[in-house]
Amino acid sequence: DHGLARDVLAGMRDIPDFPINGVVFKDFTPLLLDPSLRDRIVADTVHRRQGRVDVVAGIEARGFILGAMIAHALGVGFVPVRKEGKLPSAVHSRSYALEYGTATLEIHQDAVSNGERVLIVDDVLATGGTLAATCELIERCGASVAAIELVLEIGSLQGRDRLERYDVSSILTV
Ligand code: PRP
Ligand code: MG
Repeated sequence: DHGLARDVLAGMRDIPDFPINGVVFKDFTPLLLDPSLRDRIVADTVHRRQGRVDVVAGIEARGFILGAMIAHALGVGFVPVRKEGKLPSAVHSRSYALEYGTATLEIHQDAVSNGERVLIVDDVLATGGTLAATCELIERCGASVAAIELVLEIGSLQGRDRLERYDVSSILTV
């Protein structure tokens, strides 16, 4: 889908000084409003990963939206990677530094099993802290990170350098 990166770029909004001064927030919500663009984003990932993954892990909150659609299209299960304190059963936890502040992500210990190939989905790769923490959580469960799929990558923050061991794809790098 050759026009996809261009159409995604046109559909994203930059919101200056959100959530704090000096951060330019990349807002992907306009993409979700456009059913055909949304389907093309999902199809792009499905094309690359069909038959190669056993389960999709989506990262709260925006990764839930994309991840659930992609899991549905791939016909595989979905695992939520959640912010601290939200998952009810036994969890693995990992704290990480965000572009703004710190946070903790958690996964149910029994959400993925030994040897399963996990596709991680999120909207944006910025510093890579969120994704590095998520990869660690999946590996602590004994599963493997088959790939990481994003809509947008912010090249200047060099998040990809922290994910060298993984197969990372994004529709668009800015
Ligand atoms: C944003 C974005 C990614 C993460 C990327 O999520 O959705 O998950 O930051 O940043 P990083 O590469 O520097 O770690 P955020 O934590 O703001 O929360 P949300 O998805 O719940 O809105
Ligand atoms: Mg997020």
